Amino acid sequence: MFGPRAGIRPVQPELAGMSKTRRKSLGQYFTPVSVIDCALDALAWLDRKGDSSRRRVIDPACGDGGFLHRVIDRGFAKPATVAGLDKDEDLAVAWEQNGRGPAEGPLLAVADGLLADHFGRVSIAEGSFDWVIGNPPYAGEGLKNAAPDDLAKIADTYELARLRWKNPGSPERLRALPIEILFVERFWRLCRPGGFIAIVLPVGVFANTRWRFVREWLLARVTLHGVIGLPRKTFRAGGITARTCLALAGKAPAPDHHQVFFAEAEHIGLDDEENELPALLELWKNGETVATDERPWRLD
Ligand SMILES: C[S@@+](CC[C@H](N)C(=O)[O-])C[C@H]1O[C@@H](n2cnc3c(N)ncnc32)[C@H](O)[C@@H]1O
Repeated sequence: MFGPRAGIRPVQPELAGMSKTRRKSLGQYFTPVSVIDCALDALAWLDRKGDSSRRRVIDPACGDGGFLHRVIDRGFAKPATVAGLDKDEDLAVAWEQNGRGPAEGPLLAVADGLLADHFGRVSIAEGSFDWVIGNPPYAGEGLKNAAPDDLAKIADTYELARLRWKNPGSPERLRALPIEILFVERFWRLCRPGGFIAIVLPVGVFANTRWRFVREWLLARVTLHGVIGLPRKTFRAGGITARTCLALAGKAPAPDHHQVFFAEAEHIGLDDEENELPALLELWKNGETVATDERPWRLD
């Protein structure tokens, strides 16, 4: 569906027609193929003993399904075990027009990626996916206009929602919590023990003092293998210039003396430029940790 190392994914015409304001409020900007491939190459390497004929994969905020189509195209899993959720009902048109028969593409549904536990007969059970991948929403309206019932469910379910404030207060408070923080926990919840996570996040999650509690929570539950900073131009096709990174993790406690690979990519193969991501992955596979002064990465 998409070129093997192409940079910018063509935005499907029906999405391009959608108003920019609406796409922004949904935090809707799609990941370039080079970044998707980097995420998938990393997970395939981490999960090299896994069986692709049985692998279950989910993107709980899948947009047009870019990560998931690529998983299938590259033979990392079978269509019937690849699922995606997105709360934007307008995407259903794009999904129908992707040129695949129903048995050839991922299983996609309009649903809240933070709360859904099934769609049709597809179970979205926590702890049941080998790979949880994607680029959850940020910089959009997040939970600002969420239904009070949904806020109450989130307050009940999500530890990070409770950890944010010293006194629990009303679930209404959650409207101010950046939605990507909850998706960090959601990715972890959906992943099976021993499974793998690749997630695109704003850099602040791995840099700002404010999000220390998120890092503490996460590092107690996963082995963080690598964090690769992406250039601001990564999401320029979606009108976003946020600093983001790709984080790679396994749902297992980190061994003693574990070292996290930190790197910066300046060029990721957009248009005709070079793509540094494959070379960075090779460094990581060779056990290097790349120090970079460029960004204030923090794990404490
Ligand atoms: C940054 S886009 C990324 C899409 C896709 N994962 C990719 O990387 O190309 C985030 C997507 O999350 C969707 N979204 C926003 N809030 C959501 C929610 N609560 N549940 C599921 N999807 C949501 C948006 O509609 C948007 O398509």
